[in-house]
Amino acid sequence: MSIPAGAYAQAVARTTVHVCSQCGLQSAQWHGQCPECGEWNTLIEERLGSARAARAKRPRASAESAGGGRGARADGPLPTPVALADVGAAPVARLSTGIGELDRVLGGGLVPGALVLLGGSPGIGKSTLTNMVLAHLQRDGARTLYVSGEESAEQVRLRAERLALGDALGAPAPAGAAGAIPIDTARRHAAAPAPALQVPVLAETDLDVVLDVLAASAPQVCVIDSVQTLRAADMSGAPGSVGQVREVAARVMELAKERAIAVILVGHVTKEGALAGPRVLEHLVDCVLQFEGERERPYRELRALKNRFGSTNEAGLFEMRQGGLVEVLDASARFVAEATRAPGSVVLAAMEGSRPLLVEVQALVAPSELEQPRRVVSGLDRNRLALVLAILGRHGGVRTAGADVFVNVVGGVRLEEPGCDLAVALAVASASRGMPIAAAPRACFGELGLTGELRWVGHPERRLQEAAKHGLAEVIAPPGSGPGAREAATLREALAAALPAGPSGGSRTRRAVPEPTGTALANVEDRRARAGERVLRPAPDPAARDA
Ligand SMILES: Nc1ncnc2c1ncn2[C@@H]1O[C@H](COP(=O)(O)OP(=O)(O)OP(=O)(O)O)[C@@H](O)[C@H]1O
Ligand SMILES: [Mg+2]
Repeated sequence: MSIPAGAYAQAVARTTVHVCSQCGLQSAQWHGQCPECGEWNTLIEERLGSARAARAKRPRASAESAGGGRGARADGPLPTPVALADVGAAPVARLSTGIGELDRVLGGGLVPGALVLLGGSPGIGKSTLTNMVLAHLQRDGARTLYVSGEESAEQVRLRAERLALGDALGAPAPAGAAGAIPIDTARRHAAAPAPALQVPVLAETDLDVVLDVLAASAPQVCVIDSVQTLRAADMSGAPGSVGQVREVAARVMELAKERAIAVILVGHVTKEGALAGPRVLEHLVDCVLQFEGERERPYRELRALKNRFGSTNEAGLFEMRQGGLVEVLDASARFVAEATRAPGSVVLAAMEGSRPLLVEVQALVAPSELEQPRRVVSGLDRNRLALVLAILGRHGGVRTAGADVFVNVVGGVRLEEPGCDLAVALAVASASRGMPIAAAPRACFGELGLTGELRWVGHPERRLQEAAKHGLAEVIAPPGSGPGAREAATLREALAAALPAGPSGGSRTRRAVPEPTGTALANVEDRRARAGERVLRPAPDPAARDA
């Protein structure tokens, strides 16, 4: 008996696939370089057959459970497409997480059957946040389940005790922390165990066991911490590999949709900021949340990168305390109170989604000892800073070519809107001249155009209102911003308004930097020296001298 030539190859192709660990591309063939994302050595062979078979074995939902569509194929006739108008869309009853900031970012709460991927760097507070969510839901009578693949049940209990203690003590706010309230102030004297300790926990890494427990206990909300630690026994690859992570998420999703369980999948983030391994999950899940902040600082920001049930503009602000995370409800008041108003400090009237937020932008400009001066930025896009510095040099007379420039958005807030350009420019100019912004308190906002003009940005009235609410009477803003704004058409006008008495930024920058010394500067040094910038030559290499 002979086997047709193509049949063997086809059989092999059906059971194995090569998956790119960077972008998730599936290819029957192995490639040294991924044809999709161009990364080298990222294709890993994964077995497909057994996982498919295992999935096929799983019981499917009845046709009615998903409006006659999902799941009907397994045991019934082919479904007929229905006009959208005839689709019965019952209003979604969202589950409130009890944490206002999270509910807002989710678009109003958790949707039953939805998969939420919560990403964040190690130790940022993902487990704390998800523990608190379940504690709140448990308190409100919802059935919950916490699946921990990373920590033992004892470790989870220790955290829950800390959270429960935070509740009991009401987590007193530090002095001057206006606007922060403990998320859960209830049950201070409750006789029963605190809600955080009533959440059922399962410390397990075997996907099949987790799915069986999920099916049996039928929680309304389940947290899986983390998706990278679960392992599908019938799949090759280590836990956390692309194939495993995708399989875990796909099978969890299948069950979640069938049983209308809202699932929060916790995922780790790499140093580069991408979700480790499960980038493929971003397409699969309904909502991707990013929890970010600086570990050394208490502020944490929660953003939606993708949301099928709400806007991706919203952001929530939290503060990490001993007793857990607390919402920062009036961040503007806090940031304005903390603003130093020293040279290099500017208050920006920003928009965080649909919410106005006053934040302090700080800059430091110092003579550089490097051939390529440093541009260090935190809370902003680095390219945006480069653009603002170029405009500042060309149209504002503030040259920073020979200086290190550091810009920081205080409080670990990340700004992703063009309205922050003017604040960055004024902060750098103020730092460069060593002069504080005039007539403090004062705020600003506006986008800078390449020809030095100040451009209109969205929601000027809300920004101005927020500034007025916090006593920042005068706000430098682009033309057309409306009553209450001190309008400036160009960067030059804005600089004149904010730093009126100072000499031109460029000349002051040059004067502040010592004149070069030494005799034989290299050509490039010579050019920079002519521009009045200090250039340090490298110290003579002792080894070279000895030789
Ligand atoms: N006893 C404590 N007092 C105050 N803060 C604490 C205490 N224990 C932990 N924390 C805070 O909680 C953070 C860890 O929170 P959590 O375990 O929720 O983070 P995670 O994002 O889940 O981390 P991982 O990636 O390791 O799972 C710590 O970085 C610290 O800021
Ligand atoms: Mg954790």
